[in-house]
Amino acid sequence: MTRKINKIKQIMNNTFDKIRSNANCHPFVKWAGGKTQLISLLNQHLPKQFNHYIEPFLGGGALFFSLINNKRMLFKSSLSDNNKELINSYLVIKNNIDELTELLKEYEIQYKKDQEKFYYYLRDIKNVSDGVENAARFITLNKTCYNGLYRVNKSGWFNVPIGRYKNPKICDEVNLRKISQTLTKTDTIVFTDDYRNSININKVDENSFIYLDPPYDPINSTSSFTAYTKKGFGKSDQIELSLLFRKLSDRNCKVMMSNSDTSLVRQLYRAFDIVSVSTKRQINSVGTKRINHQEVIIKNY
Ligand SMILES: C[S@@+](CC[C@H](N)C(=O)[O-])C[C@H]1O[C@@H](n2cnc3c(N)ncnc32)[C@H](O)[C@@H]1O
Repeated sequence: MTRKINKIKQIMNNTFDKIRSNANCHPFVKWAGGKTQLISLLNQHLPKQFNHYIEPFLGGGALFFSLINNKRMLFKSSLSDNNKELINSYLVIKNNIDELTELLKEYEIQYKKDQEKFYYYLRDIKNVSDGVENAARFITLNKTCYNGLYRVNKSGWFNVPIGRYKNPKICDEVNLRKISQTLTKTDTIVFTDDYRNSININKVDENSFIYLDPPYDPINSTSSFTAYTKKGFGKSDQIELSLLFRKLSDRNCKVMMSNSDTSLVRQLYRAFDIVSVSTKRQINSVGTKRINHQEVIIKNY
Protein backbone atom coordinates (compact mmCIF):
# COMPACT_ATOMS: atom_id res chain seq x y z
CA MET A 1 0.00 0.00 0.00
CA THR A 2 2.75 2.49 1.06
CA ARG A 3 4.73 1.59 -2.06
CA LYS A 4 1.70 2.29 -4.24
CA ILE A 5 1.11 5.66 -2.57
CA ASN A 6 4.79 6.57 -2.99
CA LYS A 7 4.63 5.60 -6.67
CA ILE A 8 1.55 7.80 -7.20
CA LYS A 9 3.29 10.65 -5.35
CA GLN A 10 6.33 10.28 -7.58
CA ILE A 11 4.23 10.32 -10.77
CA MET A 12 2.40 13.43 -9.53
CA ASN A 13 5.68 15.18 -8.63
CA ASN A 14 7.12 14.40 -12.06
CA THR A 15 4.00 15.75 -13.73
CA PHE A 16 4.12 18.97 -11.66
CA ASP A 17 7.84 19.37 -12.45
CA LYS A 18 7.05 19.00 -16.14
CA ILE A 19 4.27 21.58 -16.00
CA ARG A 20 6.50 23.95 -14.04
CA SER A 21 9.49 23.63 -16.38
CA ASN A 22 7.22 24.06 -19.39
CA ALA A 23 5.99 27.34 -18.01
CA ASN A 24 9.33 28.74 -16.84
CA CYS A 25 10.90 31.62 -18.65
CA HIS A 26 13.98 33.62 -17.77
CA PRO A 27 15.58 36.95 -18.79
CA PHE A 28 16.46 37.03 -22.50
CA VAL A 29 19.43 39.33 -21.84
CA LYS A 30 22.46 39.09 -19.63
CA TRP A 31 22.19 42.40 -17.78
CA ALA A 32 24.59 44.35 -15.55
CA GLY A 33 23.03 44.30 -12.09
CA GLY A 34 20.64 41.51 -13.15
CA LYS A 35 18.96 39.89 -10.16
CA THR A 36 18.93 36.22 -11.15
CA GLN A 37 21.39 35.19 -8.43
CA LEU A 38 19.46 37.12 -5.75
CA ILE A 39 16.04 35.78 -6.68
CA SER A 40 15.59 33.33 -3.82
CA LEU A 41 16.47 36.09 -1.35
CA LEU A 42 14.16 38.63 -2.99
CA ASN A 43 11.38 36.04 -2.93
CA GLN A 44 11.75 35.78 0.85
CA HIS A 45 11.03 39.49 1.16
CA LEU A 46 8.01 39.84 -1.10
CA PRO A 47 4.84 41.35 0.31
CA LYS A 48 2.13 38.77 1.04
CA GLN A 49 -0.46 40.37 -1.19
CA PHE A 50 -0.58 42.74 -4.13
CA ASN A 51 -2.52 42.99 -7.35
CA HIS A 52 -0.41 45.48 -9.29
CA TYR A 53 3.30 44.80 -9.83
CA ILE A 54 5.39 47.79 -10.96
CA GLU A 55 9.05 47.57 -12.03
CA PRO A 56 10.42 50.90 -13.36
CA PHE A 57 14.10 49.77 -13.69
CA LEU A 58 13.24 46.61 -15.61
CA GLY A 59 16.57 45.52 -17.18
CA GLY A 60 16.40 41.74 -17.69
CA GLY A 61 13.30 41.55 -15.46
CA ALA A 62 14.57 38.65 -13.30
CA LEU A 63 12.05 39.26 -10.51
CA PHE A 64 9.12 39.68 -12.90
CA PHE A 65 9.87 36.33 -14.58
CA SER A 66 10.30 34.65 -11.22
CA LEU A 67 6.90 35.97 -10.07
CA ILE A 68 5.34 34.68 -13.28
CA ASN A 69 7.03 31.29 -12.91
CA ASN A 70 5.84 31.00 -9.32
CA LYS A 71 2.33 31.89 -10.47
CA ARG A 72 1.85 34.72 -8.01
CA MET A 73 -1.51 36.44 -8.26
CA LEU A 74 -0.38 39.01 -10.77
CA PHE A 75 -3.49 40.82 -11.90
CA LYS A 76 -1.55 43.50 -13.65
CA SER A 77 2.10 44.41 -14.29
CA SER A 78 3.61 47.71 -15.42
CA LEU A 79 7.19 47.24 -16.61
CA SER A 80 9.47 50.02 -17.82
CA ASP A 81 13.06 51.12 -18.32
CA ASN A 82 14.61 54.16 -19.99
CA ASN A 83 16.65 51.99 -22.37
CA LYS A 84 14.71 52.26 -25.66
CA GLU A 85 16.46 49.37 -27.39
CA LEU A 86 15.84 47.04 -24.47
CA ILE A 87 12.13 47.91 -24.32
CA ASN A 88 11.83 47.67 -28.11
CA SER A 89 13.13 44.09 -27.77
CA TYR A 90 10.44 43.21 -25.19
CA LEU A 91 7.77 44.63 -27.51
CA VAL A 92 9.11 42.80 -30.58
CA ILE A 93 9.24 39.55 -28.57
CA LYS A 94 5.61 40.17 -27.66
CA ASN A 95 4.31 41.21 -31.10
CA ASN A 96 6.67 39.83 -33.78
CA ILE A 97 8.12 36.64 -32.36
CA ASP A 98 8.18 34.69 -35.67
CA GLU A 99 10.06 37.38 -37.60
CA LEU A 100 12.42 37.91 -34.69
CA THR A 101 13.44 34.26 -34.26
CA GLU A 102 13.91 33.93 -38.02
CA LEU A 103 16.27 36.91 -38.09
CA LEU A 104 18.14 35.76 -34.98
CA LYS A 105 18.76 32.35 -36.59
CA GLU A 106 20.15 34.16 -39.64
CA TYR A 107 22.42 36.30 -37.41
CA GLU A 108 23.60 33.16 -35.62
CA ILE A 109 24.75 31.72 -38.98
CA GLN A 110 26.47 34.98 -39.98
CA TYR A 111 28.20 35.23 -36.60
CA LYS A 112 29.53 31.67 -36.82
CA LYS A 113 31.06 32.38 -40.26
CA ASP A 114 33.26 35.23 -38.98
CA GLN A 115 32.66 36.30 -35.38
CA GLU A 116 34.70 39.55 -35.30
CA LYS A 117 33.61 40.78 -38.71
CA PHE A 118 29.92 40.23 -38.04
CA TYR A 119 30.04 41.58 -34.46
CA TYR A 120 31.63 44.91 -35.43
CA TYR A 121 29.47 45.22 -38.55
CA LEU A 122 26.36 44.85 -36.37
CA ARG A 123 27.68 47.02 -33.52
CA ASP A 124 28.59 49.91 -35.79
CA ILE A 125 25.32 50.15 -37.73
CA LYS A 126 23.90 53.55 -36.79
CA ASN A 127 20.65 53.67 -38.73
CA VAL A 128 18.54 50.67 -37.72
CA SER A 129 14.99 51.93 -37.97
CA ASP A 130 12.99 48.71 -38.18
CA GLY A 131 11.87 47.39 -34.78
CA VAL A 132 12.52 43.71 -35.52
CA GLU A 133 16.01 44.39 -36.92
CA ASN A 134 16.78 46.57 -33.93
CA ALA A 135 15.72 43.85 -31.48
CA ALA A 136 17.70 41.16 -33.35
CA ARG A 137 20.78 43.42 -33.31
CA PHE A 138 20.33 44.22 -29.62
CA ILE A 139 19.91 40.57 -28.57
CA THR A 140 22.81 39.38 -30.76
CA LEU A 141 25.19 42.02 -29.39
CA ASN A 142 24.08 41.21 -25.82
CA LYS A 143 24.84 37.51 -26.33
CA THR A 144 28.23 38.10 -27.97
CA CYS A 145 29.69 41.25 -26.39
CA TYR A 146 32.21 41.43 -23.57
CA ASN A 147 30.53 40.29 -20.33
CA GLY A 148 27.02 40.90 -21.70
CA LEU A 149 27.52 44.52 -20.76
CA TYR A 150 25.32 47.34 -22.11
CA ARG A 151 27.41 50.48 -22.03
CA VAL A 152 27.23 53.61 -24.17
CA ASN A 153 29.77 56.35 -24.84
CA LYS A 154 29.18 60.09 -24.29
CA SER A 155 27.34 60.30 -27.65
CA GLY A 156 24.99 57.51 -26.63
CA TRP A 157 26.44 54.79 -28.93
CA PHE A 158 26.85 51.22 -27.71
CA ASN A 159 30.65 50.79 -27.44
CA VAL A 160 31.34 47.40 -25.83
CA PRO A 161 34.00 45.22 -27.54
CA ILE A 162 33.40 41.63 -28.64
CA GLY A 163 33.40 38.94 -25.92
CA ARG A 164 35.07 35.55 -26.07
CA TYR A 165 32.37 32.90 -26.53
CA LYS A 166 32.80 29.60 -28.39
CA ASN A 167 29.22 28.91 -29.24
CA PRO A 168 26.83 31.54 -27.85
CA LYS A 169 23.11 30.75 -28.14
CA ILE A 170 21.96 33.82 -30.02
CA CYS A 171 18.49 32.46 -30.73
CA ASP A 172 17.09 30.83 -27.58
CA GLU A 173 13.80 30.20 -29.33
CA VAL A 174 12.12 28.21 -26.55
CA ASN A 175 12.66 30.93 -23.95
CA LEU A 176 11.79 33.77 -26.35
CA ARG A 177 8.50 32.09 -27.26
CA LYS A 178 7.65 31.54 -23.58
CA ILE A 179 8.30 35.22 -22.88
CA SER A 180 6.16 36.17 -25.87
CA GLN A 181 3.30 34.08 -24.49
CA THR A 182 3.75 35.52 -21.02
CA LEU A 183 3.60 39.09 -22.32
CA THR A 184 0.55 38.44 -24.47
CA LYS A 185 -1.44 36.25 -22.08
CA THR A 186 -0.98 38.22 -18.87
CA ASP A 187 -2.20 41.73 -18.10
CA THR A 188 1.21 43.31 -18.66
CA ILE A 189 2.28 46.61 -20.17
CA VAL A 190 5.89 47.30 -21.16
CA PHE A 191 7.04 50.81 -22.04
CA THR A 192 10.06 53.12 -22.31
CA ASP A 193 10.25 55.93 -19.76
CA ASP A 194 12.36 57.53 -17.12
CA TYR A 195 11.42 56.18 -13.69
CA ARG A 196 10.39 59.71 -12.69
CA ASN A 197 7.50 59.60 -15.17
CA SER A 198 6.60 55.95 -15.23
CA ILE A 199 4.58 55.76 -12.00
CA ASN A 200 1.32 57.66 -11.75
CA ILE A 201 1.26 58.45 -8.04
CA ASN A 202 -2.53 58.92 -8.05
CA LYS A 203 -3.09 55.44 -9.43
CA VAL A 204 -1.10 53.44 -6.90
CA ASP A 205 -2.25 52.31 -3.48
CA GLU A 206 -1.90 49.60 -0.82
CA ASN A 207 -2.44 46.91 -3.50
CA SER A 208 0.56 48.06 -5.53
CA PHE A 209 3.97 46.43 -5.14
CA ILE A 210 6.83 48.49 -6.57
CA TYR A 211 10.25 46.92 -6.99
CA LEU A 212 12.97 49.56 -7.45
CA ASP A 213 16.28 48.20 -8.76
CA PRO A 214 18.19 51.32 -9.87
CA PRO A 215 21.82 51.57 -10.96
CA TYR A 216 23.67 51.02 -7.69
CA ASP A 217 25.23 53.78 -5.61
CA PRO A 218 28.99 53.25 -6.27
CA ILE A 219 30.97 51.77 -3.36
CA ASN A 220 33.99 53.74 -4.59
CA SER A 221 34.82 55.74 -7.69
CA THR A 222 35.98 52.71 -9.74
CA SER A 223 34.06 49.73 -8.44
CA SER A 224 30.55 50.16 -9.73
CA PHE A 225 28.90 50.31 -13.08
CA THR A 226 26.28 53.04 -13.59
CA ALA A 227 26.75 53.92 -17.30
CA TYR A 228 23.57 52.26 -18.62
CA THR A 229 22.79 55.62 -20.23
CA LYS A 230 24.97 58.55 -21.31
CA LYS A 231 23.82 60.58 -18.29
CA GLY A 232 24.68 57.87 -15.75
CA PHE A 233 23.05 57.74 -12.31
CA GLY A 234 24.76 59.91 -9.68
CA LYS A 235 24.31 60.95 -6.07
CA SER A 236 21.57 63.48 -6.88
CA ASP A 237 19.65 60.71 -8.70
CA GLN A 238 19.92 58.47 -5.61
CA ILE A 239 18.58 61.30 -3.43
CA GLU A 240 15.71 62.03 -5.83
CA LEU A 241 14.84 58.34 -5.97
CA SER A 242 14.65 58.17 -2.18
CA LEU A 243 12.05 60.95 -2.28
CA LEU A 244 9.94 58.83 -4.64
CA PHE A 245 10.34 55.87 -2.26
CA ARG A 246 8.89 58.04 0.52
CA LYS A 247 6.05 59.34 -1.66
CA LEU A 248 5.06 55.80 -2.62
CA SER A 249 5.29 54.78 1.00
CA ASP A 250 2.98 57.65 1.97
CA ARG A 251 0.47 56.27 -0.55
CA ASN A 252 0.66 52.95 1.40
CA CYS A 253 2.21 51.11 -1.55
CA LYS A 254 4.49 48.20 -0.77
CA VAL A 255 7.97 49.22 -1.91
CA MET A 256 11.11 47.10 -2.11
CA MET A 257 14.51 48.34 -3.32
CA SER A 258 17.88 46.74 -4.08
CA ASN A 259 21.01 48.87 -3.78
CA SER A 260 24.63 48.82 -2.60
CA ASP A 261 25.36 48.89 1.08
CA THR A 262 26.83 52.42 1.24
CA SER A 263 26.59 55.12 3.88
CA LEU A 264 24.53 57.27 1.49
CA VAL A 265 21.97 54.50 0.96
CA ARG A 266 21.78 53.70 4.69
CA GLN A 267 21.28 57.37 5.45
CA LEU A 268 18.60 57.91 2.79
CA TYR A 269 16.56 54.90 3.89
CA ARG A 270 17.18 54.94 7.64
CA ALA A 271 13.43 55.13 8.32
CA PHE A 272 12.83 51.77 6.58
CA ASP A 273 13.71 48.12 7.07
CA ILE A 274 17.25 47.50 5.68
CA VAL A 275 18.44 43.90 5.20
CA SER A 276 22.16 43.22 4.40
CA VAL A 277 22.94 40.81 1.59
CA SER A 278 26.31 39.48 0.45
CA THR A 279 26.69 38.60 -3.21
CA LYS A 280 29.32 37.95 -5.86
CA ARG A 281 29.24 40.40 -8.74
CA GLN A 282 30.86 39.72 -12.06
CA ILE A 283 30.43 42.84 -14.15
CA ASN A 284 32.66 45.57 -12.75
CA SER A 285 35.78 47.52 -13.57
CA VAL A 286 38.09 44.53 -12.99
CA GLY A 287 36.59 42.65 -15.91
CA THR A 288 35.69 39.02 -15.40
CA LYS A 289 36.90 38.82 -11.79
CA ARG A 290 34.04 38.14 -9.37
CA ILE A 291 34.21 40.20 -6.22
CA ASN A 292 32.19 40.12 -3.03
CA HIS A 293 29.68 42.89 -2.95
CA GLN A 294 27.67 44.07 0.03
CA GLU A 295 24.14 44.93 -0.98
CA VAL A 296 20.92 45.80 0.79
CA ILE A 297 17.25 45.05 0.35
CA ILE A 298 15.11 47.90 1.65
CA LYS A 299 11.39 47.52 2.42
CA ASN A 300 8.66 49.72 3.82
CA TYR A 301 6.50 46.77 4.96
C1 LIG B 1 20.28 47.35 -11.88
S1 LIG B 1 19.56 47.41 -13.49
C2 LIG B 1 18.06 46.53 -13.27
C3 LIG B 1 18.30 45.06 -13.34
C4 LIG B 1 17.04 44.19 -13.34
N1 LIG B 1 16.37 44.22 -12.08
C5 LIG B 1 17.36 42.76 -13.74
O1 LIG B 1 17.03 41.80 -13.04
O2 LIG B 1 18.00 42.59 -14.81
C6 LIG B 1 19.06 49.08 -13.61
C7 LIG B 1 18.21 49.42 -14.82
O3 LIG B 1 17.78 50.79 -14.70
C8 LIG B 1 17.72 51.37 -15.98
N2 LIG B 1 17.78 52.83 -15.78
C9 LIG B 1 18.87 53.62 -15.51
N3 LIG B 1 18.50 54.90 -15.31
C10 LIG B 1 17.13 54.93 -15.43
C11 LIG B 1 16.15 55.94 -15.31
N4 LIG B 1 16.49 57.20 -15.03
N5 LIG B 1 14.84 55.63 -15.50
C12 LIG B 1 14.48 54.34 -15.80
N6 LIG B 1 15.37 53.32 -15.93
C13 LIG B 1 16.68 53.61 -15.74
C14 LIG B 1 18.89 50.78 -16.75
O4 LIG B 1 18.66 50.81 -18.14
C15 LIG B 1 18.92 49.35 -16.17
O5 LIG B 1 18.21 48.46 -16.99
